[in-house]
Amino acid sequence: MNWENNVLRVTPYTAGEQPKDPEIIKLNTNENPYPPAPGVSRVLDEMEHDPSKMRLYPDMDSTLLVEALARREGVSPAQIFVGVGSDDVISMAFMTFFRGTEKILFPDITYSFYSVWAEVHRIPYETVPLTEDYRIRPEDYLPAVTGRPNGGVIFPNPNAPTGIALPLAEVERIVAGNPDSVVIVDEAYIDFGGESALPLLPKYENLLVVRTFSKSRSLAGMRIGYAVGNEKLISYLKDVKFSFNSYTMNLAAQKVGLASVEDEVYFRACTDRICETRDRFVPALQELGFEVLPSSANFVFARHPQISGDDLLAQLRARKVLVRHFTAPRIRDFLRITIGTDAQMQSVLLTLEDILRDAADH
Ligand SMILES: Cc1ncc(COP(=O)(O)O)c(C=O)c1O
Repeated sequence: MNWENNVLRVTPYTAGEQPKDPEIIKLNTNENPYPPAPGVSRVLDEMEHDPSKMRLYPDMDSTLLVEALARREGVSPAQIFVGVGSDDVISMAFMTFFRGTEKILFPDITYSFYSVWAEVHRIPYETVPLTEDYRIRPEDYLPAVTGRPNGGVIFPNPNAPTGIALPLAEVERIVAGNPDSVVIVDEAYIDFGGESALPLLPKYENLLVVRTFSKSRSLAGMRIGYAVGNEKLISYLKDVKFSFNSYTMNLAAQKVGLASVEDEVYFRACTDRICETRDRFVPALQELGFEVLPSSANFVFARHPQISGDDLLAQLRARKVLVRHFTAPRIRDFLRITIGTDAQMQSVLLTLEDILRDAADH
């Protein structure tokens, strides 16, 4: 007998790099280039001046944050679950809702953490190929069409890394067609385009919508995410969470999250700005010969007919521009480029022009 026989062995998720060099234009993890709402600094200043509040455990129900989110989304506080980033929320949801023996389904090209959670929680899964034009086809997720029951379904809307949004009517087909399992719609990027599935909640008991503060609210470093669903789903989720760790949301995260939710005007201004920059960046990329998938997110997914993804990634890196590249065969020539400030995107365009000129000369 060897102790290693009793070890849970998994291949962990590979997160995008966090480089140390401040000169790098960092467009590899879909962070927001703008600071969080001004109220966030006020909260942090107050905490700094009175650290004695940290003596006590935080509110395990995150009541003020949950109430603010409920008001914003037009649901009851009992319909909100908060966690340490949406990664924590989704991982908990996998553990809670995907307990059946049937396989859960998600797209073959999607957020690569889904398969990691399925592995670590020992949940059987199957990936469903996107169409030729990189879209989710709702029929592929319907037991009535495939002839096989599902243990659950999860997909991001808009999808990542494609950036393509699924229309609400198609999301509804997937939710309505899976009454015997939970369907999780991961809306990490919904604030930049696409239609939220929240209006479907009163109609469907099996729908869970997950959101994050990491992208549109500029708070990736604080780790805040939430789920919205009917009260029964949320209470099951809370029961599992409270069986692991009551105090996942620390005091600072609760206060900072609240300050962000309370500033809707700043939030809108910030997301509008990013969408405007994206809508200028896409035609400029196309002008350089790139094929760009239609993005409803704060990133674009693009490839160039003359340069491989590997090569372009390396050449951008050599010129201090960091973007994300995936090695799966269908998307290995694409790069995922986060939308930064106008100045950053301008600089990326000049760098790409330079690389393409070099390539044409050789
Ligand atoms: C589709 C999708 N879901 C969830 C997440 C996790 O976000 P966080 O844990 O920062 O809330 C990401 C992060 O990149 C993502 O792309």
